[in-house]
Amino acid sequence: MKGKAKGMVSKNSGSSGAAPSPFEGTKVWMDGRFVDYKDASVSVNSHSLHYGLGAFEGIRCYETKKGVPAIFRLDEHIDRLFSSCHILQIPIPYEKKDIKDAIIQTVKINKFKECYIRPIVFIGDGGGLGIFLKNYDTRVAVTAWYWGAYLGEEALKNGIRAKVSSYARFHVNTFMGMSKSTGQYINSILAKKEAVNGGYDEAIMLDTSGLVCEASGENIFVYSGGFIKTPPLSSVLPGITRNSVIEIMEKEMGLKVKEERITRDQLYIADEVFLTGTAAEVTPVREIDDRKIGAGKAGKVALELQSLFFDIVKGKNGASKYKKWLTYAD
Ligand SMILES: Cc1ncc(COP(=O)(O)O)c(C=O)c1O
Repeated sequence: MKGKAKGMVSKNSGSSGAAPSPFEGTKVWMDGRFVDYKDASVSVNSHSLHYGLGAFEGIRCYETKKGVPAIFRLDEHIDRLFSSCHILQIPIPYEKKDIKDAIIQTVKINKFKECYIRPIVFIGDGGGLGIFLKNYDTRVAVTAWYWGAYLGEEALKNGIRAKVSSYARFHVNTFMGMSKSTGQYINSILAKKEAVNGGYDEAIMLDTSGLVCEASGENIFVYSGGFIKTPPLSSVLPGITRNSVIEIMEKEMGLKVKEERITRDQLYIADEVFLTGTAAEVTPVREIDDRKIGAGKAGKVALELQSLFFDIVKGKNGASKYKKWLTYAD
């Protein structure tokens, strides 16, 4: 498998486009052992495939100044994965430390310098296909690959155009937002597709009462009148990037962050709007529903935050006080 997949080396050395898939040639940790990506397959009658019961995480590992890759906020991602399974009542046949070790080993065995890591807990076919599961055939996998800027480099630099979706986020008694569960991403997929088909980059989702929640795969922040606002956790995924940027803005940028309900028109008249997420990192929003946000370009606050965030995740420039957030895979 040596040198096969571009994900196995840094983004700089593998962008020739020779590899047909970013996954090909990688090793996957599956149910306690490493297998080749091509052998990491599941049954067509996996319960999760039919009904969408499962939980996952998206974690980034960055190339650092030290020359050793660092996984960003690994413990918090593992905690959220276990919380998701607890909410969904999926028994996990592993301890947190087993999954932590599996993730670190996945980065190492694949010789990644940087990558995106996807641990997933799902149900196999061992308990049958009834909706009521008596026996949970829980399966766990950790896969990883190189994934560059989720919305593109241009989006990070110049901001994106977003659309308020016609699809509402779930009522709290429909799906439980504190869990990052697989099936509920159908809602995000529909919203994202609608936005992209309409010529936008991303979808902003409102809740069933019409208040702003988050984007299809990111939390949302508004900068207005000198304050930062973000919707409270009752309606959104408890983003680990959200939590990180709140700390960075308060401690490094002297900004006060208020967690409060936001209306759609408050977005339109904001000085800045930006999105945060493991995949999207810190992405400025320059336009929503064909209305310019602020000056209609990436805002100063978002760009300063983005730069601080990248320094921290890459262990650069004064990032030492945030070293608690980095797990080096050496
Ligand atoms: C719906 C949704 N909201 C927010 C986020 C951001 O969460 P995090 O920063 O933990 O990646 C994500 C990404 O996982 C998401 O899918």
